[in-house]
Amino acid sequence: MAENKYKALELETPGIYELEGLEVGVTSNCNFKCDYCCAYRRDDGSKIGAEEVIALIREIPTLKRVRLSGGEVTLRFEDCVKIVAYCTQHGLATQLNTNGSLLSEERIRRLKEAGLSNIHLSFNFTDAQSFGAYYGMDPRVYDKVIENIETCVEYGLETVLETLLFGPTQSNMPAISRKVHDLGVRIHEIQNSIVMDHAEREGWNAIASREALVRSVNDLIANRRPDTELYLTCMDRFMTELGFREEPGVYFSNCVDGKKQLHLHGNGDVLICELCRPEVIGNVYEGLDLAAVYANRPKALADFLEQLPCPAYEALFPAAP
Ligand SMILES: C[S@@+](CC[C@H](N)C(=O)[O-])C[C@H]1O[C@@H](n2cnc3c(N)ncnc32)[C@H](O)[C@@H]1O
Ligand code: SF4
Ligand code: SF4
Repeated sequence: MAENKYKALELETPGIYELEGLEVGVTSNCNFKCDYCCAYRRDDGSKIGAEEVIALIREIPTLKRVRLSGGEVTLRFEDCVKIVAYCTQHGLATQLNTNGSLLSEERIRRLKEAGLSNIHLSFNFTDAQSFGAYYGMDPRVYDKVIENIETCVEYGLETVLETLLFGPTQSNMPAISRKVHDLGVRIHEIQNSIVMDHAEREGWNAIASREALVRSVNDLIANRRPDTELYLTCMDRFMTELGFREEPGVYFSNCVDGKKQLHLHGNGDVLICELCRPEVIGNVYEGLDLAAVYANRPKALADFLEQLPCPAYEALFPAAP
């Protein structure tokens, strides 16, 4: 396994279940309120600080990567820097997932100095007006995000832009892909959209149809620039059925959620997967031992591992009634 390669855990063929990745929701608070997201709706005001996180990860001998993702974890920036610095000193890869709006040159420099392995920014729109209209925000936030992406690249941080493949992006993928390249970013992740159980607002549930997904993915692969790596996420279960194939530079990353990676919420709850399976398997303050979680297998985790359900698969290939 190449050290710190983006998605190194997901690129390995799944073998035995061990806790190699921990996603930490330092906070579930967020300055955005994206229609498609349920993370910020889980915000119960709890936060987990750097000292508590470090005390936990120090006890997990199998750990290889810590991913900071909320919510918007840059709202707790100092905790992020401390966790990243600890991980760097102890040979653990780190990833920080952000909407990019609260970064600055100073913050990017500090993350680089702390040794962050990858910075991962959401990127769904190619102009400020569409961004502002979709998110209900001042379009100037878009300019700030763009500036921050460019600064990440300038500082030599391994920068990943993630595009959610869903209604508002599915017909604009070629332009998004061009913009990613123009910004100097060479890793583009395409996240298949997952139906959430929070569809309160009409218009969400805008996951890509099977036809749109097949068309978009095939176009992206056909038009990929040789210097760009394309990661296609939450598609591994049905890539063969839809005729997708890996090739150099194109990765249908293996899903590791629940199998090698768990999500730690700010109140100590441990979830199978924050995105699609926010089921609590225990709480680190109430006796859940992360180092032994796969040896002890709490019932919810054991049930998950037996069935390995995948809502992305079920959305495209619904079971016959
Ligand atoms: C929950 S956010 C947290 C990090 C940061 N606030 C951000 O937006 O990048 C992490 C990732 O989850 C993705 N996400 C949110 N809702 C999703 C959904 N319904 N289906 C697939 N991915 C989703 C977002 O696109 C984002 O890249
Ligand atoms: S996707 Fe990220 S930026 Fe959007 S509401 Fe969720 S946590 Fe916030
Ligand atoms: S189980 Fe969840 S995280 Fe894994 S591929 Fe399916 S939808 Fe994605």
